[in-house]
Amino acid sequence: MKALVLSGGSGTRLRPFTYSMPKQLIPIANRPVIEHVLDGIRALGVTEVGVVVGERRPEIEAVLGDGSALGVRITYLSQQQPLGLAHAVSVAREFLGDDDFVMYLGDNMLPQGVTEIAAEFRAERPSAQVVVCKVPDPRAFGVAEVDPDGRVLRLVEKPAQPRSDLALVGVYFFTPDIHRAVAAIVPSARGELEITDAIQWLVAEGADVRAREYSGYWKDTGRVEDVLECNRELLDGITRSVRGEVDERSVLIGEVIVEESARVVNSRIEGPVVVGRGSVVENSHIGPHTAIGRDCLLSDTWVDHSIALDGATVSGVRGVHGSLIGRSAAVTSVRSKHHHRLVVGDHTQVEVAA
Ligand code: DAU
Repeated sequence: MKALVLSGGSGTRLRPFTYSMPKQLIPIANRPVIEHVLDGIRALGVTEVGVVVGERRPEIEAVLGDGSALGVRITYLSQQQPLGLAHAVSVAREFLGDDDFVMYLGDNMLPQGVTEIAAEFRAERPSAQVVVCKVPDPRAFGVAEVDPDGRVLRLVEKPAQPRSDLALVGVYFFTPDIHRAVAAIVPSARGELEITDAIQWLVAEGADVRAREYSGYWKDTGRVEDVLECNRELLDGITRSVRGEVDERSVLIGEVIVEESARVVNSRIEGPVVVGRGSVVENSHIGPHTAIGRDCLLSDTWVDHSIALDGATVSGVRGVHGSLIGRSAAVTSVRSKHHHRLVVGDHTQVEVAA
């Protein structure tokens, strides 16, 4: 079995971050989402991976390389325009050949993995097997109607009035039958070749299409709130490891990772927290549920439930909460009670205490 990871697309809901980085590289617990995705694929024993990339190819390639550091072998497949998930499958046609494959959306996080679902697909080889998850409001997802035996009766992409609460998770198992379906469908109202429509085409043809429920934690990291929530979830699974320097005036509580060459000085760190390589935390209170990237400076500050990307500075500002701070961004204080000075990029959101 091969794997196909979809890492093109535009990521407009994660602006301004996606102006300078593809959404699949946003870090969760200090690792890009797509690395978590590749971990999930390797856990299935699949090592031959095609990664569909758009105009952000150079950045993704710079991070993942040939995949050997993650135990997989990557072939990059260029999609000229984000014309839909089924279009991405057609771009990968030659790479996939006549093999079965698992398709994984590069922005979906399923930390508990889909090993059992994959084993069932391998053993029984239905034409397609989708993964579904019960959600309170499935309107932002593909929605499946499934019979009691797990056979898919109908699939609809982002319906206004969902007929079930089963959302399509961004992991799909396919036999080569999917290629006929992809060739047969036409673009949806939003102008994309939808994989949901391709699978529905198989259902209408009478093919064996099954759904299996995933009951672990699942997040499509499409929006800032999702990224922060997912970060909290993953940080809850870390274990303490202190490789960097922590001075005697500092206190670490609970699960705290201080990576090598990071320094913690006169600070209180309340886990779960990760402090990335080369970062300095001084005279601060950090955490819980906070991930600090590499080479950041946090000084005289209080930050919790937040993510700071590589090179960020937070200095002299207390009460930073639920925040996502971009690469090399600086949040500092001025010696004035009367004004705030902001240099804020496009589509940025700033909330200042009243
Ligand atoms: O997250 C699960 C949902 O993912 C499913 O419930 C939906 O049925 C499915 O259509 C998909 O919906 P989204 O609207 O969230 O898909 P999005 O446009 O965010 O794309 C998902 C991933 O695929 C993302 O990593 C970008 C990549 N992509 C997207 C398009 C449209 C490509 O590589 N090429 C593309 O042409």
